[in-house]
This record gives sequence, structure tokens and C-alpha cells, in this order.
Amino acid sequence: MIGLGYVGLPLALRFAEVGVRTLGFDVDPDKVHTLSQGRSYIRHIGDETIKLGKSQGLEATTDFSRIKEVDAILICVPTPLSQHREPDLSYVLRTLESVMPHLRHGQLICLESTTYPGTTDEELRPRIESLGFQVGKDIYLVFSPEREDAGNKEYRTQTIPKVVGGCTDACLRRGIELYELIIDRVIPVSSTKAAELTKLLENIHRAVNIGLVNEMKIIADRMGIDIYEVIRAAATKPFGFVPYYPGPGLGGHCIPIDPFYLTWKAKEYGLHTRFIELAGQINSEMPQWVMAKLVDALNEKSKSVKDSRILVLGISYKKNVDDMRESPAVELMEILRKKGGQVSYSDPWVPVFPKMREHHFNLCSVELTPDSISTFDVILIATDHDFFDYQMILNNANLIVDTRGVYQERAKNVIRA
Ligand SMILES: NC(=O)c1ccc[n+]([C@@H]2O[C@H](COP(=O)([O-])OP(=O)(O)OC[C@H]3O[C@@H](n4cnc5c(N)ncnc54)[C@H](O)[C@@H]3O)[C@@H](O)[C@H]2O)c1
Repeated sequence: MIGLGYVGLPLALRFAEVGVRTLGFDVDPDKVHTLSQGRSYIRHIGDETIKLGKSQGLEATTDFSRIKEVDAILICVPTPLSQHREPDLSYVLRTLESVMPHLRHGQLICLESTTYPGTTDEELRPRIESLGFQVGKDIYLVFSPEREDAGNKEYRTQTIPKVVGGCTDACLRRGIELYELIIDRVIPVSSTKAAELTKLLENIHRAVNIGLVNEMKIIADRMGIDIYEVIRAAATKPFGFVPYYPGPGLGGHCIPIDPFYLTWKAKEYGLHTRFIELAGQINSEMPQWVMAKLVDALNEKSKSVKDSRILVLGISYKKNVDDMRESPAVELMEILRKKGGQVSYSDPWVPVFPKMREHHFNLCSVELTPDSISTFDVILIATDHDFFDYQMILNNANLIVDTRGVYQERAKNVIRA
């Protein structure tokens, strides 16, 4: 398993669980050291699970020469966007460079990282064949997108069906054999490109529908209609409607980023991805819309953001996880700070504001008590963790800006945003 992050680590643990000797590779020596000591660095994966994995044969290393020991190589490294919002395949290609000197006949390579259609066939395959290996005969190559949903208690790695596409029939057969060891239902598709586009369709479907419901929220708000009441009512339709919920903007490593992999690739075919662009525009404007609501709410109290004490509640990108990537809460904190607000946050999943590439806040999570809540001018609910005592917050807050529809009943001190 190469890349022991949110995707690679659970997958590696699952292989160990079924008795497959598993080597985890990562370039981050801290992660390898932590795992070797039987500890976890991902909050929803406990130390006990890592200890169990170790006892079942999971080993972590930074030594890529050990690639020659393994039969299958799964690549789970990041696929972010560049500064110009174009696919950044550098992690995948660097991984391949580290692997290539140690490849041997008979090995299977599976790319798991989300990417545009053509990556496996156009980027990985020629590099492997440049070493003199024939893909489908000497080395087997597949793409199988990860569907990890951190914090989801209903589904786990084993019970989430897995799509797989191979460069050749022989590749696909090997891929199916591998994934059937750990997954209840493996779904073959006809090519690596089909598997790559499947993952993008899933994420674009979410991005577009979230964009739609965010637009509906703005319209409903202007018309004085409760969008959550409307979604609840629409969701009683037993067919043809899937509920999506509005929020302060898109977050996480997938939904704000992956659709633009397709946008980039579609240009090669002279096509524009209009739904993706529109949803991206609406979703990325949400923090500003929330901010306008907050400014108006303060204004009603003859206050400005400048010098107000503002507590942001929940700063990870979604509820009940510690993942901060692309969190809209952080963008809200940045805007508030720029306007001169005194920003604090409370999030039991993020006790200390982490080091982020583009954001620096020297802050720790504030403990929520009736007294501490009453000292803030505004409580901004950005992420609705189950942990919070929402009734206690309601009873003691001067003003609440609720971006998640936590409070279904109207209340004097609550503004929906
Ligand atoms: N997080 C999710 O819920 C999720 C879900 C589905 C798909 N994905 C996709 O899976 C891929 C991985 O995402 P993630 O969330 O696990 O990322 P992550 O950042 O949590 O983990 C990536 C790991 O790869 C390591 N790494 C980076 N370069 C490396 C290299 N050259 N060699 C070895 N290790 C290297 C990093 O140190 C890190 O530990 C991405 O393409 C992402 O889009 C993520």
C-alpha cells in the first residue's frame, strides 16, 4: 500500500485483517514511525485497530526497495489541483518513479487515487512499458477508485462495492482476484478509463446537487421559506428524489477538487463541463453569502464584525471527523479575521488548529460552557458535530448563525445562513 492516509491506511488494515501480509509505504517518516509504535494519526481509526493490524502482519516502511517483496502494489497518494486549478499528478508520478527500479515480473499495480479518464493508460502504462515490461503479460495494471467515507458507520471497506477496470483482460482478472480478497462485491468495468470516469461521475453528481440545493437555499431564504422543511417534505417521495443538504460551502479532499480533473481533460476533446463550472461557482460563493447574513445579523444589534467576538463551531469539513482539508469553516474564519473580528473556534475533533499550507491560526479549541458561550457576540455553526450540546448553546448564546439547519424551530437568537 503506497500512501498511508485516509484511503491507504484503512485499505491496508483490511488486507491485514483477512490474513494478507501487508507492507505500507509512505514518504512521511512520522506516519511510518507512529504506525510502527502501534499508534494512529487518524482520529476515527483508534490505536487498538493499528495494534491489531500490526499483530495481523501490517508493517510500515519508507524503504521503497522493499517493493520487490510484494505481489500487488496499490497507489493511494494525493491528486490535488495545481495553483491554476489543473490536475496535479506529481504525487502519482513520483510514486511510480520510486517503484519502477524495483518492479519484477508478475506484479499487479492498482491506482486508487481519483483522477481523469486516461491517467492509467496514458501516463502509467507507457512509463511501465518503457522498462521493457509488457502490460497484461509481465506486469498487470488496473484502476480501482476508492470510495472511503470517513466517519460513515453504516458502511466499511469490506461492504462498499468496488469498481475495477484493467488495461487488458488479464489485468482485470488479476484486479478482481485481489479485491475479492477484501471486498464483498467487486464490479468489473470494461476499461481503466471507464473506472476513472465512474469515480468522477459519483463526485460530480454530489457537487452539482449540492450546488443546486445551495441555490435553492438562497431562493427559499429570499422568499421567506424554510429550505429544510422543503427538503424534508420532498424526501418523503419514495422514488426519483435524493435529498442533499445546503451548507456554508464545499469541503474535503474530493468534492471541491475532483470535478475539475474532468473539466481539464474535457478541454482536450473540445468540450466544456458547464454543470461542473456552474456548481463550482455557486458552491464557492457560499462562504460570502453566509458572511453577508452574519454581517446583517450583527448590524441588527448595532454591531460590526470588527472587534466582535466570534466563535466558529465545528471547523473540520464535515461532521464527526477530524479532516480539515478544504474546510469552508477555515475560509469563514479567514474572512472574519480580515474584517477585524476576534475569531475563536470550538471543535472537539480538532483540539489545536493544525498547520495548514495556506492558513495560520494560533488557536486551540474553546471549551463550551454556558459562561464561555455567553461571552461571544456571535456563534457561527459551520460544522454540526453530534458532540455539541445544541440546547445549551441556544440557551446561552447572544446570537447564532446556523449554516447547517441545526435549529428546526424558529428562535429569537438564531439566524439561518
Ligand atoms: N479521503 C477520502 O475520503 C477519499 C475518498 C476517495 C478517494 N480519495 C482519493 O484517494 C487519494 C488519496 O487520498 P487520501 O485522502 O488518502 O490522502 P492523504 O493525504 O490522507 O494520504 C496520502 C498519503 O500519501 C503519502 N504520500 C505522498 N506522496 C507519496 C509518495 N510519493 N510515496 C508514498 N507516499 C506518498 C502522504 O504522505 C500521505 O500519507 C486521492 O486521490 C483522493 O482524491 C480520497
